[in-house]
Amino acid sequence: MREATLPTCPKTPGPKNEAMGGWIFRPLARILQKAGWWIGECIWKQEARFRGIELSPRVSFRGRPCLARAPGSRIVLGEGVCLNSSLRSNPLGCSRPATIRTLFPGAEIWLGPRSGLSAAVLCAARSIVVGEGTLIGAEAMIFDTDFHVANSEGIWTLAGPEHAQPVTLGRNVFVGARAIILKGVTIGDGAVIGAGAVVTRDVPPHHVAVGNPVRIQPRNRLL
Ligand SMILES: CC(C)(COP(=O)(O)OP(=O)(O)OC[C@H]1O[C@@H](n2cnc3c(N)ncnc32)[C@H](O)[C@@H]1OP(=O)(O)O)[C@@H](O)C(=O)NCCC(=O)NCCS
Repeated sequence: MREATLPTCPKTPGPKNEAMGGWIFRPLARILQKAGWWIGECIWKQEARFRGIELSPRVSFRGRPCLARAPGSRIVLGEGVCLNSSLRSNPLGCSRPATIRTLFPGAEIWLGPRSGLSAAVLCAARSIVVGEGTLIGAEAMIFDTDFHVANSEGIWTLAGPEHAQPVTLGRNVFVGARAIILKGVTIGDGAVIGAGAVVTRDVPPHHVAVGNPVRIQPRNRLL
């Protein structure tokens, strides 16, 4: 049987040009990108401090995160936390900044040491705690509130902190891209949340949760 061939484009640079281009542009682009990250990081960290975010040593920002703290609430980034927000800071290409937001006084978001998120959203009306070494994938979303609640007449109003239920992620949890973790959920140490999963109930330690509705299995059966 004849093998399928890919169509060629006459304007495609030859291997020699390509090699030269790679030689010059890749290292240059990498240097410029690192320099841009470094300069930006100094500025965005200062902005975070100005907004009352508590930063531990060795926190790293790649790109400008979206950090918003309600008065009287706390956002604490532990040692070595990494927030990826710029397009090239993640292999998937971050299409939005890492977003961490408290909504009411008394709310708290804690990111444990060496945890990280890429273009993900954490939004707390009461409490979101992320354990040490936990990684939250591109565009995942975690919230402890439904944001809106219907009153006695069925009219949607803003949900206050009394309607929120804390969310806790243990140590070394891995949350796949575009997963959604909803209010009241506790995820045990070493658990894995599959890409696109919608998690509405607790996941025991070292279990894998995939799909919508979520299917939970011991980790050794999947990974
Ligand atoms: C959850 C995950 C880690 C499991 O990987 P794995 O152990 O290799 O799992 P498999 O591909 O062998 O799949 C095992 C079963 O789970 C299902 N499954 C795996 N991932 C799933 C997902 N995200 N959603 C729904 N079902 C999923 C498979 O369909 C398969 O089902 P079956 O047994 O009925 O056939 C992986 O699928 C995943 O979602 N990775 C996320 C990667 C990611 O987003 N990284 C972050 C980048 S920033």
